[in-house]
Amino acid sequence: MEYFIAHRAPAAGEDPVLALFLFEGDGPLPRAAAAVDEAVGGLLSRVRKSGEFPGKPRETILLHNAGPRGPRRVVLAGLGAEADLTAEGFRRAAAAAALAGRGARAGEMSVVLPATDRVPREDLAAALVEGTALAVYEFRRHKTGEAAEDAAPLARVTVVEEEKKGRDALDRGLALGRTLAEAGAWARDVANTPGNEGTPTYLAERAREIAAESGMKLTVLERADMEREGMGGILGVARGSQEPPKFIVLEHNAGRGELPCFALVGKGITFDSGGISIKPAENMHEMKFDKCGGVAVLATMRAAGRLRIPLRLVGIVPATENLPSGTAYKPGDVVRTLGGRTVEVLNTDAEGRMLLVDGISYAKRYRPRAIVDLATLTGACVVALGDAASGLFSTDEALAAALLRAADRSGERSWRMPLYPDYTEQIRSDVADFKNTGGRPAGACTAAALLQAHAEGTPWAHMDIAGTAWTTKDRDYLRKGATGVGPRTLVRWLLAEASPAGK
Ligand code: BES
Ligand code: MN
Ligand code: ZN
Repeated sequence: MEYFIAHRAPAAGEDPVLALFLFEGDGPLPRAAAAVDEAVGGLLSRVRKSGEFPGKPRETILLHNAGPRGPRRVVLAGLGAEADLTAEGFRRAAAAAALAGRGARAGEMSVVLPATDRVPREDLAAALVEGTALAVYEFRRHKTGEAAEDAAPLARVTVVEEEKKGRDALDRGLALGRTLAEAGAWARDVANTPGNEGTPTYLAERAREIAAESGMKLTVLERADMEREGMGGILGVARGSQEPPKFIVLEHNAGRGELPCFALVGKGITFDSGGISIKPAENMHEMKFDKCGGVAVLATMRAAGRLRIPLRLVGIVPATENLPSGTAYKPGDVVRTLGGRTVEVLNTDAEGRMLLVDGISYAKRYRPRAIVDLATLTGACVVALGDAASGLFSTDEALAAALLRAADRSGERSWRMPLYPDYTEQIRSDVADFKNTGGRPAGACTAAALLQAHAEGTPWAHMDIAGTAWTTKDRDYLRKGATGVGPRTLVRWLLAEASPAGK
């Protein structure tokens, strides 16, 4: 999708489709809309008066202009009450407008940004791109014939704005929105790739492309390298699979020791059958999405490279399948992690934490200011928060606050979860330092507690994205399948870290 800016009166052109955003209520039409209304012979005010379009969030209506002047079609999209408008509210409205506008099959749409002081224009512009581009996203790589093609692509969106004075903010917002939307769509593409194609090797290839594009340093540890390092966690999980495991390390600004360093770690289970503690067959196919944390880290690194974020960044993705076999790790096994701790495997399905602890210990070698990990870690997090929010755990107040702020600006809700010492007690093992599950109570928290023990000494945050990484229904700018959660939040967070003066 391409985005343009046109400085002209919205009513003056003959746009095939023009989207206007209206607040709820029967107040007067905003200036641009009033001008369009006049050009189209009062069509908008008639629709408003009739009650057909109250302007509630998610509401749209597609109007045809039969008159000789003005846009050929007008999409009205509701924003709800002005006092409640947020960037996320506009992102959703933009998504609704894009889907309605696409239905007109013109291939393009013009939009007028809402006239409001509730949200900065730069944020509105970014949200416009995120909302529209992600809404029309489709994953059709495995469709053939007619279904392989988008029958009604929306290829161009033009922001129409008469005044030139806010141009800089508009340019900045659109540019950021492009990078963020692209990161989200890229994450969706990789995450939606099924397990037979989307193997650990596949993830390593994607990392190689990112490294080549932005001149990053890439290290991919093979099984033998992991053995030499003593990465008992990922190696334990990988024992059951014929696919070679990969421990992927991407470094942005690798040689720049003077820059603040941050490390990202993502769970890269390309398929989670549960292993010997095998999962029920129903919905097991969804566990192709168990790599979403790792994919989010790769997508963030890719965007950070494109934006040349002036930070030193390390992106770590331990990747393997979790399968049962004659060589698979078993309940009762004890493994030694890279951090030198021993973990008793009570359930082979609690595999994510096994490889994340190796990733976290590896991240500490860079002495980063903070480590942030993302993982589709626990069903318990889904029970606790559903798909409404990711679970955020952190040992550092400032880090947690910064991540929550970035998540809020991205519309990717995160909810702070506790790290009480009780949870660490709950995972003490009789035979080893820890066990890999603490039973059903507080399952998301006890999983986090094992990570916390390995992150010790470094500010750390963990996002359990088990409930937010994929969806079984279309919603606003989310499409069925992988949601691409993570990169939009992480990039906003890193940008803020890189310019502590701003945001
Ligand atoms: N990948 C799953 C977590 C998951 C479950 C994500 C459902 C999304 C939806 C993880 O590896 C897992 O299997 N966790 C177990 C842990 C348990 C055995 C302690 C779980 O949550 O059931
Ligand atoms: Mn599992
Ligand atoms: Zn898993």
